Amino acid sequence: MTVTIVGAQLGDEGKGGIVDVYGDDADVVARYQGGDNAGHTVVHGGEEYKLSLVPSGAVRGKVGVLGNGCVVNPATLFEELDALRQRGLDPDVRVARRAHVIFPYHRVLDGIEEEAKSDTDDEVGTTGRGIGPTYEDKAGRRGLRIGDLADPEVLRDRLEYTVPLKRALAEDVFGVSVSDAGGDSEGDVDEAFDVDALFEEYREYGRRLREEGMLVDAGDFLADRIDEGANVMFEGAQGTIIDIDHGNYPYVTSSNPTAGGACTGTGLAPGVVGDGEVVGIVKAYLSRVGSGPMPTELGGVPGDTPGYDGDPDDPRTESEKLAARIREAGGEYGTVTGRPRRVGWLDVPMLRHAARASGFTGLAVNHVDTLAGLEEVTVGHSYTLDGEEVLTMPAPTERWAACEPNLRTFDGWPEFDGAAVAAEGYGSLPQNARAYLEYLEDELDTPVYAVGVGPGREETVVREHLF
Ligand code: IMP
Repeated sequence: MTVTIVGAQLGDEGKGGIVDVYGDDADVVARYQGGDNAGHTVVHGGEEYKLSLVPSGAVRGKVGVLGNGCVVNPATLFEELDALRQRGLDPDVRVARRAHVIFPYHRVLDGIEEEAKSDTDDEVGTTGRGIGPTYEDKAGRRGLRIGDLADPEVLRDRLEYTVPLKRALAEDVFGVSVSDAGGDSEGDVDEAFDVDALFEEYREYGRRLREEGMLVDAGDFLADRIDEGANVMFEGAQGTIIDIDHGNYPYVTSSNPTAGGACTGTGLAPGVVGDGEVVGIVKAYLSRVGSGPMPTELGGVPGDTPGYDGDPDDPRTESEKLAARIREAGGEYGTVTGRPRRVGWLDVPMLRHAARASGFTGLAVNHVDTLAGLEEVTVGHSYTLDGEEVLTMPAPTERWAACEPNLRTFDGWPEFDGAAVAAEGYGSLPQNARAYLEYLEDELDTPVYAVGVGPGREETVVREHLF
């Protein structure tokens, strides 16, 4: 039996909490895309663990798998594993031989390209982890796969071909001397383009991966576990609207967070994923990091919201004040940078698009507590584009930017005790909150399986147990 967890919006939907709740009954938790661009915090046994690559289930004694659709920075992987071991845990993490390797030059190039775009509207606001450049090399057939690290001859040959290309890209195309590109947390930038240094460091990672028995053919490994009767969870990172195919290109990450990615990114057939549950994780409002359109935006963030020069700390209009209130209550600030996130009403056309792309069998709606206490709660029910009503997102991002939301308003609900409601069950949610959730169920033709009513693990109303 499988459960796939997919972000329905722009990332930051609170997937970690739902993975945590449903992951309890999983034996294996597998990631199928992305890399160390996905920060999550796991609280276990009173201890807090911050992870960006290792699947969160590994903290709870599950087998963690990084599927072939992932891009893996071995330095981050071993840092996270060593840190968990130092704290007394014994994580069991397997890595697909077919997953691609993030090298230091990918991170440097990620930074160089973002810097080159920084004066334009094209800056994506990447996490700087080298995700895009690594997937570029994968598609360009010049990448290195995790399994290649264990074969010194292949590793050296491939580096000797690729590294001079990357150095030339940095120096001759972007005009940046790699000796003073600066800013790479992994040390000397010059070394990021030094074949000998890379060969030594990455051969050692290959040795560790092999000796610690971490290398697997992900599809075979997972199919065997499923045949044995194991419960397998596929943990999507990021979200549908930053999916490289289904998102608002070019403001996207370079992988497929949508459910199809769980097949191509693990080596299992669509029927395996499709036979299981596919849970869309929805935040009860919307937040966005970085630039790009956001038709239901309430209050902007300068530098991110196109054309906005207000101050999120000094809200003036009614909608800016609402945005500030939701941002504060929902903790909508970047975990690393502390920068305020853009905030808006729930965008229902976006959710219809996400539900179709992934075939959600159920929804988990988070942050219902964050909206408590508002007199009215609004959603963008549809858009008007060229005088016509449209119910889903148009494909060209510029057309999406031209959409005007048609708003629908619901009576608000009072503040409530999240832990008590979670303990008592769905029926004890305020009636107006249930009306809001039932509207979503109707519009997406999908039942709500779980409701997040607070940040704690015990503050989730579970209506459906999945495994
Ligand atoms: P990248 O994944 O670092 O290449 O970043 C590409 C885009 O995806 C940027 O707009 C990032 O802000 C966004 N992004 C990547 N990971 C996350 C995430 O975990 N949550 C929200 N946005 C993300």
